[in-house]
Amino acid sequence: MTMSAEQRPVVLIGGGGHAKVLLDIARLTHRTVAGVLTLEDDNTLPLATLGNDDRLRDRSFVAAHDFFVAIGQTQARRRIAETLAEHGATLATLIHPACVVAADVEIGGGTALVAGIIVNSGSKIGQHCTLNTACSVDHDCRLDDGVQIGPGARLCGGVICQEDAFIGAGAIVIEGRMIGASAVVGAGATVVSDIAPKTTVIGTPAREMILQTFG
Ligand SMILES: CC(C)(COP(=O)(O)OP(=O)(O)OC[C@H]1O[C@@H](n2cnc3c(N)ncnc32)[C@H](O)[C@@H]1OP(=O)(O)O)[C@@H](O)C(=O)NCCC(=O)NCCS
Repeated sequence: MTMSAEQRPVVLIGGGGHAKVLLDIARLTHRTVAGVLTLEDDNTLPLATLGNDDRLRDRSFVAAHDFFVAIGQTQARRRIAETLAEHGATLATLIHPACVVAADVEIGGGTALVAGIIVNSGSKIGQHCTLNTACSVDHDCRLDDGVQIGPGARLCGGVICQEDAFIGAGAIVIEGRMIGASAVVGAGATVVSDIAPKTTVIGTPAREMILQTFG
């Protein structure tokens, strides 16, 4: 018998604090979780360790499971995401039942929506994104692959977050603004203008963080 994608057990890659939250969502949504692949012996979950990322070379293992990259660190996450794509792995999408997501929202594989999130109509969320507790994404936003939105952050309508952008906890991005690839918006910042790629901004209004050097 061939198992449908819905029935395939999920393998979490990474077993730290974020993975704990994802395991809870998987269980609430009646997904079976087979175990954890670790990168650095980091399995803190009450689940079997199934090996490390070398197991992704095993075709039958890959074909028998859905995968979810449960690693916060952007570069490690991207590396594993690329390995999964190379090996044709199927990605799980984990959405907590206590989220409100408009019917036309597109959500890519490997993306998690944690409890208490609202995503409004017309928004599009890529692969391997993490939307954390009680954030909101208003209408017609675009979140490219690997974007992370912190707890309680607010994206107004039409905001674009390019690949691997990070929006800190409680930050606000006003309507129509663009957050460049790999940019970081500090916790509590208010973004009122576009943010260039790889820039870190803080404060209200958000300004580039200037590192102090001494001596
Ligand atoms: C912006 C951020 C990335 C900077 O991190 P960092 O480079 O390690 O910065 P530091 O902690 O060394 O702080 C440097 C200075 O910036 C200030 N600062 C740091 N983050 C700030 C923020 N969000 N808003 C205002 N000021 C901030 C610090 O007070 C410090 O000021 P000082 O030099 O006058 O003492 C980080 O503080 C942040 O906001 N991260 C987001 C965390 C988050 O939302 N996590 C969610 C996890 S799900």
